[in-house]
Amino acid sequence: MNDGRVLFQEFLRAPTRVATVTASSDALVAALLAPHRLDGAPDAERGAEPGAQPTADPIVVELGAGTGRVTDAVAHRLGGRGRHIAVEINPVLAARLAGRHPDVTVVAADAAGLPTVLAEHGVERVDAIVSLLPWSAYAAAPVPELAAGVLAPSGTFTQVTLRGLHLLPPARRQLRDLREAFGEVTGGATVWQNLPPARILIARSPKRA
Ligand SMILES: C[S@@+](CC[C@H](N)C(=O)[O-])C[C@H]1O[C@@H](n2cnc3c(N)ncnc32)[C@H](O)[C@@H]1O
Repeated sequence: MNDGRVLFQEFLRAPTRVATVTASSDALVAALLAPHRLDGAPDAERGAEPGAQPTADPIVVELGAGTGRVTDAVAHRLGGRGRHIAVEINPVLAARLAGRHPDVTVVAADAAGLPTVLAEHGVERVDAIVSLLPWSAYAAAPVPELAAGVLAPSGTFTQVTLRGLHLLPPARRQLRDLREAFGEVTGGATVWQNLPPARILIARSPKRA
């Protein structure tokens, strides 16, 4: 079965969790990854703090990897460097992803357990978190706080959100929680080519309790 059909089938089973019937567009994937430095630039170029993970081998985490459009792009950019962990709660989507990407650590788990997932894989700090999680995940767990807690000081968190719905309570709560967990939160480009049109939120300078 192709990705589109599987996504549609899983959407029918859990609509608020899967939250889409279309796979991410190339434009969305590019916008989500643009704020991250996954190209192996040395620490000094990024102004990384002493003790930060070496960025030549970044540790990248995806949350809500779905059909794997972002997984494909991250794997391509890393080109075998660093470490790539994809967390996906849906067991059908996670199993397909694992089959397609034997070099990626695909974990069929709830993003709410991120610190535990990372600890189980021997990872303490990560350089990049790319999130496609829907609002329902933010309602169920403090996603920004969890992300900030595992991100290196020089790391970046990106989250896709829907364009034009920023006044809705879940969108306002998402932004508020991001601002509480990160020192810097900005809105990136709107991706009109995506269906539905999307916007990227970029969070940096994680605050740690
Ligand atoms: C908007 S879709 C992302 C789809 C992806 N962009 C694609 O191209 O296939 C959101 C994904 O997040 C997953 N998800 C939802 N809640 C989650 C959670 N709490 N933990 C991990 N993954 C979750 C869903 O199963 C779904 O695959």
